[in-house]
Amino acid sequence: APDVDVNKVKAHLTELSAIATRNGGNRRSTNQGYDDSVAYVKARLQAAGYTVTEQPCTSGCTSGAGPNLIAEWPKGDANNVYMFGAHLDGVSAGPGMNDNGSGSAALLENALTLAQQNPAMRNRVRFAWWTDEEQGLNGSDFYVRSLSSTERSKIKAYYNFDMIASTNGGYFINHITSSAAAPMKAYWDSLGLQPEENTEGAGRSDDYSFERYSIPTSGYAMGASARKTSAQAAKWGGTASRAYDPCYHSSCDTLTNINTTGLDRASDGIAYTLWQRAVDTGTGST
Ligand code: PHE
Ligand code: ZN
Ligand code: ZN
Ligand code: ZN
Repeated sequence: APDVDVNKVKAHLTELSAIATRNGGNRRSTNQGYDDSVAYVKARLQAAGYTVTEQPCTSGCTSGAGPNLIAEWPKGDANNVYMFGAHLDGVSAGPGMNDNGSGSAALLENALTLAQQNPAMRNRVRFAWWTDEEQGLNGSDFYVRSLSSTERSKIKAYYNFDMIASTNGGYFINHITSSAAAPMKAYWDSLGLQPEENTEGAGRSDDYSFERYSIPTSGYAMGASARKTSAQAAKWGGTASRAYDPCYHSSCDTLTNINTTGLDRASDGIAYTLWQRAVDTGTGST
């Protein structure tokens, strides 16, 4: 799998930050800062050759919320779909750089890297940027609910990325012992990171919308308002008894609230997982 350039991921974050700044300081799903975020991601994907769909959220979302954004790479078996998603909306308190510019930007650079590399594909990859997560996982819930049961059954796993650059963070994986998580865990294990189960995030982000329909899910996270334990500080560094992200849902969730090392490790692990799951590596494995 390729190395995803964390400087390119950070360049997307810089754009999302500027979008917040010119729209009252936030990217809330009901505000212009969200629609401009959608327009940015969409334009970059289209320039790379993706067909991109804006899906208006017509039920269950907050009134005035912008659309989900869906992009599928048009190669590989359409009956075996691996989805990778991140919520693109933020809260009104600030620009939402770790929550969730981080997951959104890592996903975008992974999509662009896939297009640029253009490998032979075994399975299908579909990317999603969700609306209105902050008001109740509403965009992803609408998406999964709106699929026919046939289309839902083609989704073999969903991978979620919400807060992957927490400045006092840890290395957390959703459903860490599941088969869906295996490549995510294998990559972080290869870096010696000793990842742990994402207990803080259980049921609290868009993977839950898929889990409710019995679709296997996993994902990376570095943590929100819960506090780092002394055992975690001993193995990962950082400050014990302090929040993983001290700027969670705050005005200080700006470009300086990004852990570049963590962001790189997650971005590269997404690429590793995507390659393992969907690229034709020529070994005849399925
Ligand atoms: N889903 C939460 C949010 O976007 C983030 C979160 C993730 C909180 C994991 C706790 C645990 O605000
Ligand atoms: Zn990298
Ligand atoms: Zn949030
Ligand atoms: Zn979030």
